[in-house]
Amino acid sequence: MSLVPDSSQETPAGFWRWLLGHLTANPLVIGMVVLGTGLTIFIRAAIPILLGQALDIAIIDLNNIYTNEEQINILQNFVTTILVIAIAQFIISLATTITNEWLSWSAQRRIREEFFNSMQNKPLKFHDSVRTGELMALATNDLGQVGGMISPGFNMMSDVFISIIISLFLVIGVMNAPQLILLATPFFLVYVWAVFAYNKKMAPISYTFMRKWGAIATAVQDNIIGAEVVRAFAEETYERNKFMKYVLDFRETWYTRQIIQARYFPTLVLFAAIGFSVFIGSLFVANNESTIGNIVAFNGLLFTLLGPTYVISFAVTIFNGGLAGARRIFSMEMREAGEDIGEVKNGQLKTIQGNIAFENVSFKYPTSKKWILENISLHIAPGQTIAIVGPTGSGKSSLTKLLLRLYDYEGRITIDGIDIKEMSLEFLRKSIGRIEQDIYLFPRSVKENIAFGARNASQGEIEKAAQMAQAHNFIVNDLPKGYETNVGEGGSQLSGGQRQRIALARTFLTNPRILILDDSTSSVDSKTEEEIVKAINAVSQGRTTFVITHRLSTIRSADCVIVIKGSKIVARGHHSRLIHTSPDYRRIFGKNVDLPPLQEISSSTPALGGLK
Ligand SMILES: Nc1ncnc2c1ncn2[C@@H]1O[C@H](COP(=O)(O)OP(=O)(O)OP(=O)(O)O)[C@@H](O)[C@H]1O
Ligand SMILES: [Mg+2]
Repeated sequence: MSLVPDSSQETPAGFWRWLLGHLTANPLVIGMVVLGTGLTIFIRAAIPILLGQALDIAIIDLNNIYTNEEQINILQNFVTTILVIAIAQFIISLATTITNEWLSWSAQRRIREEFFNSMQNKPLKFHDSVRTGELMALATNDLGQVGGMISPGFNMMSDVFISIIISLFLVIGVMNAPQLILLATPFFLVYVWAVFAYNKKMAPISYTFMRKWGAIATAVQDNIIGAEVVRAFAEETYERNKFMKYVLDFRETWYTRQIIQARYFPTLVLFAAIGFSVFIGSLFVANNESTIGNIVAFNGLLFTLLGPTYVISFAVTIFNGGLAGARRIFSMEMREAGEDIGEVKNGQLKTIQGNIAFENVSFKYPTSKKWILENISLHIAPGQTIAIVGPTGSGKSSLTKLLLRLYDYEGRITIDGIDIKEMSLEFLRKSIGRIEQDIYLFPRSVKENIAFGARNASQGEIEKAAQMAQAHNFIVNDLPKGYETNVGEGGSQLSGGQRQRIALARTFLTNPRILILDDSTSSVDSKTEEEIVKAINAVSQGRTTFVITHRLSTIRSADCVIVIKGSKIVARGHHSRLIHTSPDYRRIFGKNVDLPPLQEISSSTPALGGLK
C-alpha cells in the first residue's frame, strides 16, 4: 500500500486520521512516556505531601508522642526518602524526555519520507504551480513544528493533565482533605476558561505564522537561484528591500503571537489560589478542620502546579503551530494525485520497436488558456529521425514532453500501436531518452551524472558513453578531478556545451529505443558540433529519434522535417523538398543562409519519409 494519502481523503476526518496515524504509530512507546510522566509527576507531588507529614508528625507533634531523638530520627528518614525519590524522579524524567524525543523524531522521519515520496510522484503540472521555497519550508519548518507537538508539546500537555489528576488523587486519597479541592475549584474553572480563550486566539495566528515563513523561504529561493542575475543588474538593494518586506511582515505576526502569549494569565490565577488557600486554610486549622501539615502540603502541591500552569501557554502555542504545519503538509500532499510510475497496465510491451504515432493530439498546459498544440497527427517508422522546427514558443518542446506523458493531452499517442496511456510510466520513460533544452545536472560527480539512469554502469561503460558523446576529452583534460569532479548546483560549474555532452553521454548509457534531442547542439562551437552531430548520427542508428534543432547539418540528415507554427503542423517532408516549397520553413533560416528560389507546389504533393 502506498504511504502517500490520496485526494479522496482530503476531509477534516481524513486529516485527523492521517495526523493521529502518524503521531500514534508507536502506542507502546507512547504508553511508556505517559507512565514515565505520571511517575515523575507523582514523585514531584509526593514531596510536599511528605514534607507536610514530616511537619505534622515530627516537628509540630501536637500530642507530644515522640521524644526529641525520635523526632530527629523520623525527620532523617523523611529526608532520606525525599532524597532517594528525587534522584529516582530525575532518572525517570530523563528517560521519559529521551523516549519522547525519539517518538518525535520517528514521527518526523515518517512524515518526511511520505512527503518526499509524495512530491517525487507528483505530475509536472503540480510542480509548475508550486514554489520550491514553499515545499522547502514545509519539509523543514512545518515538519519540525509537527514534531514539536510530540516533543516537547506532548510532554507539556501530559504534564498539565496528569499533574491535575495526581494532585486530586493525593489531596482526596492520601491527605483525605476534599474540602481543600472545593477551595481550589473556582480558580480551576477560571484557569480552564483562560486556556480555551488563549487557544482560540492562538490557532489562526499560528497558521498565518507558518504561511509567512513559507513566503520568506520562497523569497530566499528566488534570490539564491537568481543570484547571478541580481548581481549582473546590480539590483541588490531593491531585492534586499523586497526581502525585508517579507521579514517585517513575518515579524509583525511574531509580535502579535508573543503579545498573546505574554497576556496569558493563569499563573496569576494560581498565585491567587495559593494566597486564598493560605488564608482559608488558616481558618480551617483554627477550627481544627485541618492540620498545619495538610495546609503546607496543599500549598506545596499548588506550587508544583506552577510549572505546568505556566508551561501550558507554550504547549498551546506548540500544538497550534504543529496543527497548522500538519494541515499545510497534508493539503500539499493532497494537491494533485501522484503518479504511480510502476502501475502495471494492459499495454505492457517486452521491447519497443519505435513505431510512433500521434493521432489528433491537442494540448494545453493546465495554467495556460490557449491551446499549445492542436490536432497534431504524425507517424514515424522505427529507426527514423524526425526534425522538429518552428518559431520559438511554437510548442516543439511541449510536443516531445507529451511522448513521455509528462502532461495530459487530448487525442492518442501510440508506440508500436499501443496507447502510451496503457503503458506503465516507468517502462515508457525508461524506453525514451530525452536531452532536455535546459539541461539539469545534479550537484554530484560527472560520473554519477552520466550514470544517472544506469546506476550499475561500470567505469568502462561510463567512459565509453562519454567518448561517444565527445565528452571524454574535456572531462579528463579540463576538469580538476576528471570523472570525480562535482558539477555544482544544476551543473553550474560546466559550460553549456559541456553540460549538453554530459547529458548526451547520460542518454547513450541508458540505450533507449527512442531518443529526443531538444536543441542539443545549439551551444557548442562548430568543431564540437560536427563531432556531436556525428555522435548523434551514430547513436540514432536504429532508434526512432526526434531532434529539435535549427542546425542545417542535423536537419539535412533527418528522414523528415515537421514545421510547427501557431500550434499546428504547417509543413512536413524532407528538407530538400521543404526548402523549395515551404515559406514557413525557409523563414526559420532567415537571411543567414542562401536559399534556393521558392517554388509553387500543389498542396497534393505527397509527404516524404515515413511520415504522413
Ligand atoms: N510549464 C509550462 N506551463 C505553462 N506554459 C508553458 C510551459 N512551458 C511552456 N509553456 C508555453 O507553451 C508554449 C510552447 O512552449 P515550448 O517550450 O513547447 O516552445 P518551443 O517551441 O520549444 O520554443 P523554443 O524554440 O523557444 O524552445 C509557449 O508559449 C510557452 O510559453
Ligand atoms: Mg523548446
